[in-house]
Order: sequence, then structure tokens, then C-alpha cells
Amino acid sequence: MREIRFNAFDMNTVGHIQQGLWRHPRDQSYRYHDITYWMDYAKRLEEGLFDGIFLADVSGVYDVLGASADAAIRGAVQVPVNDPMMLVPAMAAVTTHLGFGVTANLTYEPPFLFARRLSTLDHLTQGRIGWNIVTGYLDSAARANGLAGQMAHDDRYDLADEYMEIVYRLWEESWEDDAVVFDRDAGLYADAAKVHKIHHHGRQYRLEAMHLSAPSPQRTPVLYQAGSSPRGRKFAATHAECVFVNGQKIDGVKAIVEDIRAKAVEAGREPDDIKMFMGATIVTGRTEAEAREKFEDYRRYVSSEAALVHAAASLGIDFSKYDPDEPIETGKSNAITSNVEAITRAAGPQWTRRKLLQQMVLGSRQAPMVGAADDIAGQLIAWSEQAGIDGFNLSRTVVPECFDDIIDLIVPILQERQAYKTHYAEGPMRQKLFGTPRLPDRHVGASHRRKAP
Ligand SMILES: Cc1cc2nc3c(=O)[nH]c(=O)nc-3n(C[C@H](O)[C@H](O)[C@H](O)COP(=O)(O)O)c2cc1C
Repeated sequence: MREIRFNAFDMNTVGHIQQGLWRHPRDQSYRYHDITYWMDYAKRLEEGLFDGIFLADVSGVYDVLGASADAAIRGAVQVPVNDPMMLVPAMAAVTTHLGFGVTANLTYEPPFLFARRLSTLDHLTQGRIGWNIVTGYLDSAARANGLAGQMAHDDRYDLADEYMEIVYRLWEESWEDDAVVFDRDAGLYADAAKVHKIHHHGRQYRLEAMHLSAPSPQRTPVLYQAGSSPRGRKFAATHAECVFVNGQKIDGVKAIVEDIRAKAVEAGREPDDIKMFMGATIVTGRTEAEAREKFEDYRRYVSSEAALVHAAASLGIDFSKYDPDEPIETGKSNAITSNVEAITRAAGPQWTRRKLLQQMVLGSRQAPMVGAADDIAGQLIAWSEQAGIDGFNLSRTVVPECFDDIIDLIVPILQERQAYKTHYAEGPMRQKLFGTPRLPDRHVGASHRRKAP
């Protein structure tokens, strides 16, 4: 049986994916600015043998619907949002094995300083840091950072390719493995001959520098990515070690998974060099009736307006310009291409605002799996075996009880069916995922390593 892995999918904010549920009396997400909230959260996930907590992030506001951020602000739709990286050391201090996948938009991060921040986190967590590489989909983020608007969709990936080359060279090339000597008697901390400057003169970036951090356990963090457009898949197949996919139908997801793995092989990698994680929302209970009752209870707090705000921004479409039953012209989006394709697949080519709202039963386009734990465990196993999925990024609903339900009810069933670990493997995050702490030699990032003389 394939081993299924779980990540909690969250954000340093109140309303993440399922919009409106923060109003539920038992929901604790309003405590996002309380460090003890995250520490307790991390400990709980580690009790459930989760691979990691995955933190999304955006660098702008959702102001596409009605060309205003007012509704996002009213409904806490990913705003206010705090920096995800700051949470990591606190959560790492109270856990031993949990991994941390942190989203950072490279468009607005100078590569030199960014590489150092990630190296610092890799040191402090003893090799438990991952980076979700994103290029953004919000014009508001571009304007906030002094640009007129975003670059065109595919150009963003070209920029990302160049960025990756720089950070790989800082992480993998600059310091040789034995550069740090730490010889107190000789007064020699590090061997200057083994620390190298990198010189990069590219289209977007120019840089001449040695990396400021000494080699960390993983050097390059575990690389996550979520692009499903043709250009996004090519990028994922080249760089990503964990890829996020979304979808409602096994066949559709299987096709994406197989395509990315095939493209990875074309890029000189092995199909299993990439772990596939699927986004999922689960509402469960001991029985079907208990799960349904919980679902109906949660549903009372859903905000359709907030769900529409989120969908408008991630699809790049202002729904306020359409009557409820007027067909929506999709055209070519400059936001998240794969989201637009997914909605067209789900709602049909003649989709409307009303059809979209009908799909968003729990406050997002991600349809929840609702059912008894036994039934959900069976569905997860089916997804894993039939679509080639390695794990699930579990969106929160009412937090933390949604994760308590998964840990108390679903994990033991999966363990019984030998589809879930009973203890953590040792070592850094990459070692737990792939059996080795460093990028494999066949990964493009490893090509920058200095060859032994
Ligand atoms: C599960 C999932 C999580 C994502 N998380 C973020 C995020 O936190 N921040 C962000 O800017 N984009 C996020 N994205 C968007 C992707 O990084 C990427 O921009 C988008 O999927 C581009 O896909 P495309 O190549 O299909 O256009 C996410 C996408 C998916 C599917």
C-alpha cells in the first residue's frame, strides 16, 4: 500500500480557503497573532505524524471583485495577513520532526537576502524547511511593490528560472562542505579558499557575492510548487520536489500527475523525484450522520461574498460585472491559469456567477469530502492509488477541531490499513521524503555544486 502523507494547509491569517468559518464559535483562527496558538498547533500536528504544516502567503489584497478591497477587509479574506516565516522558529522549538513549507513570492524578494533567510531557517530547524515557490497572481501586490502591474503569466516563470539559478548557486556552490573548520587552537574558523563568490549577470538580476550563511543541513530547502498551466508544469518538472495539484475528478488529476512526472523525466529526473500533494477539505465524524451534522453546522457560517472575493482574485475575473445568470467570458487570465481551466471543467463552458456560488458549499471552490472517517480513509486511499497522489494538503475548516478529527479518527484507520506511518523517519525533511538530506545529483540545483578537484 502506498504511504499517504498529510500536510496542514494554513496561512498566517484569519480567512484562508473556506471563507466565513472564522465566525464559527469554536474556530480559533482569530488567534493567528498569538505565538502560543501556533506552538500548540505544531505539537498537535506532530502527534498526528503530519509531514508538515504548509503556510500559504500573498503579498497583496483581493481587490478584483468590484475593483475594491472593502469586501476582503470586511470578511477577513486573507487580510490581515502576517509573515509566515516568523512562525517557523517558534513551531520548530516545540517539535522535532514536523516540516515547514513556507510560501514566498520571489518577484518581490531580492534573491541574495532571501537565500540567507531560508538558510537561517534551515539551520534553526535542523533541516526542516521547505519553500513554496510562487510568482504571484495579484496586481495589487505588484502595485504595492512599485510596479505598474504584474508581468505576463509566462514571463513570471522565466523570471523564476533565473532566480532559481541564483539561489541554487548561493546554497549549493558558494561554500564547500568542509569550509567551516572551527579550529580553536589554530584560530581558524573557516577556510577562505573554500568559500567562493558567485558571479551572475543575467537578464533580470546581476549579482557578485558569496553566500553569507554557512551550509545548512539541506542547503537548498525542499522545493514546493503549484503551477498546473503548461508553463507552470514545465517549471515544476524542472525544479519542484513536491507539487500541489487541485481537482475533483481522479482522471483529471491523474493526467496532470502523469504529465508532470513525464516532463520531469525529460528534464533528467526520475518520476519518483516528485511527490504529489492534492488539496483536500475534510469534514468527518464517527458516523456519516455525525459528519453531515457537522457539515450543516459549519455551512451556517459560510460567507458567499467572501468566497466570491477570493475566487475573483485567484481567477482574475470581476464577477460584479456579470448578472447572476449571465455566461462568464473566461478569455485568457493573467492570474492562475489552471484555476480558470478547473472551473470551466467543473461548471461547463457556459458558467455563471450562480453556478460558481452553488459549487462553493463551504466557502471556496474546493469541494469538501464529507463522511464517516472510514469512508474518507477509503476515498483517500483510492485517490492515492488511482491518481498517483502521495499526500494531501488539508485545508482547515473550523480550526483546530478539523485537525483533531483527522488525527483522532482518520489517521488510525489509515494506519490500520498500512497506508500511514506509525512513526517518523529520522533526519531532515528531504530525508524523510526522499531518503537523502541533499538534492539528488540529477536535480538541476545540484549541477551547481563544485566538483571535487
Ligand atoms: C494548492 C495551491 C496553493 C497555492 N498557494 C499559493 C500561495 O500561497 N500564494 C500564491 O501566491 N500562490 C499560490 N498558489 C498559486 C500558485 O503558486 C501558482 O501561481 C498558480 O498555481 C499558477 O498556476 P498556473 O501555472 O496554472 O497559472 C497556490 C496554488 C495551489 C494550487
